[in-house]
Amino acid sequence: MDVFIRRLSAADVATYRQIRLESLQRHPDVFGTSYEEEAVLPDEVFVQQLTTNLILGGGADEQHVTGIVGFIVGGALKVRHKGILWGLYVQPEARGSGLAKALVNTLIDAVKDEVEQIQLSVGAHNVPAARLYQGFGFEPYGLENSALKVGEQYLDEVLMALDLRKLKQS
Ligand SMILES: CC(C)(COP(=O)(O)OP(=O)(O)OC[C@H]1O[C@@H](n2cnc3c(N)ncnc32)[C@H](O)[C@@H]1OP(=O)(O)O)[C@@H](O)C(=O)NCCC(=O)NCCS
Repeated sequence: MDVFIRRLSAADVATYRQIRLESLQRHPDVFGTSYEEEAVLPDEVFVQQLTTNLILGGGADEQHVTGIVGFIVGGALKVRHKGILWGLYVQPEARGSGLAKALVNTLIDAVKDEVEQIQLSVGAHNVPAARLYQGFGFEPYGLENSALKVGEQYLDEVLMALDLRKLKQS
């Protein structure tokens, strides 16, 4: 499937806010922040996310963003060689046609000369997402027990990393 992927900017705040909140509402068990917390935030906070993170949006064409992924690099000198992939989401009706793969692929391509390592965490129960990351060469390096508490349910998260130096050598 042909997909359109682009960096979302401050001008995309309405689109980004809508799809980000939808992801949190639909999947409370896979994201570290909750819908209730983010839904009350003003647009300025979403604009700030768009300007301080690399946030990609994708879909069948430029106007219809049906998937997103975020990436951030820490500010401190000693951690600037790595970044965190977060917030990957594809709307249910757009799933299964390679959009998430295209988003992650474009993200890796965009940051591969900026950082040496991409880290992420994925719910231990989230088989589709873990398979996707493994397909790109992400490897598990730890398990955080009870990483999230959603209501009365505790959820473990697998910590994964992609070593971009290794990737470049292969
Ligand atoms: C995980 C998610 C982003 C996948 O989106 P998608 O666009 O359907 O994924 P793609 O079509 O690009 O599939 C890419 C790969 O993911 C894996 N995958 C996707 N859906 C899968 C499923 N239902 N079961 C097993 N593996 C699956 C496969 O490895 C697939 O590669 P393949 O088609 O070559 O087998 C989507 O299901 C989603 O938004 N889920 C809810 C939010 C979420 O879990 N985000 C991740 C947080 S860490």
